[in-house]
Amino acid sequence: MKKSNSFYGYSLILAFFMLFLAARSQLNTDFYNTSCPNLLTIVRTQVQNAIKVETRMAASLLRLHFHDCFVNGCDGSILLDGSDGEKFALPNLNSVRGFEVVDNIKSSVESACPGVVSCADILAIAARDSVLLSGGPIWKVLLGRRDGLVANQTGANNGLPSPFDNLGNITLKFANVGLNVTDVVSLSGGHTIGQARCAVFSNRLYNFSGPGIPDSTLDTNMLSDLQNLCPVNGDGNKTTFLDRNSTDLFDNHYFQNLLNQKGLLGSDQILFSSDEAKTTTQSLVQSYSTNPSRFFADFLNSMIKMGNISPLTGSNGEIRKNCRVVNS
Ligand code: HEM
Ligand SMILES: *[C@@H]1O[C@H](CO)[C@@H](O)[C@H](O)[C@H]1NC(C)=O
Ligand SMILES: *[C@@H]1O[C@H](CO)[C@@H](O)[C@H](O)[C@H]1NC(C)=O
Ligand SMILES: *[C@@H]1O[C@H](CO)[C@@H](O)[C@H](O)[C@H]1NC(C)=O
Ligand SMILES: *[C@@H]1O[C@H](CO)[C@@H](O)[C@H](O)[C@H]1NC(C)=O
Ligand SMILES: *[C@@H]1O[C@H](CO)[C@@H](O)[C@H](O)[C@H]1NC(C)=O
Ligand SMILES: *[C@@H]1O[C@H](CO)[C@@H](O)[C@H](O)[C@H]1NC(C)=O
Ligand SMILES: *[C@@H]1O[C@H](CO)[C@@H](O)[C@H](O)[C@H]1NC(C)=O
Repeated sequence: MKKSNSFYGYSLILAFFMLFLAARSQLNTDFYNTSCPNLLTIVRTQVQNAIKVETRMAASLLRLHFHDCFVNGCDGSILLDGSDGEKFALPNLNSVRGFEVVDNIKSSVESACPGVVSCADILAIAARDSVLLSGGPIWKVLLGRRDGLVANQTGANNGLPSPFDNLGNITLKFANVGLNVTDVVSLSGGHTIGQARCAVFSNRLYNFSGPGIPDSTLDTNMLSDLQNLCPVNGDGNKTTFLDRNSTDLFDNHYFQNLLNQKGLLGSDQILFSSDEAKTTTQSLVQSYSTNPSRFFADFLNSMIKMGNISPLTGSNGEIRKNCRVVNS
């Protein structure tokens, strides 16, 4: 009698403990171990191939995961086609790329384990692999996200940070998804790889603080380079590298650039040069610029945090068959 009472007592405690674990961290690293044992190898190989074809793809895949997670959580919503899609939101239009690569990864994964792996998880793994293959840190990627049933164009327009935002605005947009000032700075370090179009920084080149006065926090040699690349009324789709020092290498030169007034976007340079930065982000930029291992450690921590934004789990959402459309 006594034995059975304590048995039920322990079972109850165990049950509550497991419930607690499930509620605390719904994603885990082993989610597909039995249902899709080769998943990580398949994605790694596909990302590797894509980067071999075009180095920039690493950057594009990293950015897709970021733009997915900031809108309705990491739910693959950015991948949905359609005129009401997030692809047509201002921060994404003529800008986000890599959808064909995601299609290729998804079809390889579907061949191996049909109907099992979400598009949202594929984005998270591809982003991790892109950073690693560009020379950045590795981390164990948490899995078990399910795919959303709707896109949210308004959410993308309002929730994604803009290169024209001030620091308060950017910090607020990060705070709205549970990310803090450390995350703002470390994740901005993602701009150590990839490119940006004249359209998103040419505001700094000509009439920034009045007629004929460019952004005074932009290095003058870099200014004339960029003016040549982006003349008045030129092609706004022309691109240049976000980190001109080591264009395709994931390192801390992005932060060294900021100390030298060589940030490309307004939203990059304000992390070091704005008045607001003096009491918030400037010291961290300085620290990352001399301490690459601190940058790597903080970056991977922030990536895991970002990957945890409002995931759909359990029976919420679905496992999409085609990342571009919800299952019928
Ligand atoms: C802090 C706020 C941020 C702003 C305002 C911002 C803005 C931008 C802009 C305007 C571009 C260029 C888009 C174009 O030319 O059309 C860009 C590119 C990029 N962003 Fe960000 N971004 C931010 C944060 C992040 C974060 C958190 C990540 C990832 C951790 C990231 C990763 C990238 C990458 C890798 C590219 C290059 C993409 C490519 O070459 O295809 N950004 N970002
Ligand atoms: C799941 O797979 C990973 C990678 O192969 C391995 O490190 C981990 O130990 C496995 N976990 C379990 C619970 O089998
Ligand atoms: C879209 O995102 C906004 C946040 O910007 C949120 O309030 C709204 O509920 C979302 N709409 C849908 C349909 O998910
Ligand atoms: C964000 O930008 C808007 C203008 O677009 C401005 O009115 C607002 O004050 C800014 N918010 C913060 C927190 O700085
Ligand atoms: C941001 O959150 C991390 C935990 O993820 C914490 O270590 C860090 O101190 C926080 N930064 C700020 C400025 O609150
Ligand atoms: C800068 O301002 C001047 C005078 O207001 C104007 O003529 C010129 O078109 C502007 N240039 C750009 C690139 O907006
Ligand atoms: C960039 O190219 C697209 C078509 O690819 C075009 O519709 C758009 O107007 C161009 N944007 C700029 C800023 O030139
Ligand atoms: C990159 O930065 C290093 C020092 O951090 C410097 O020696 C090198 O000349 C820079 N390279 C370019 C292409 O700017």
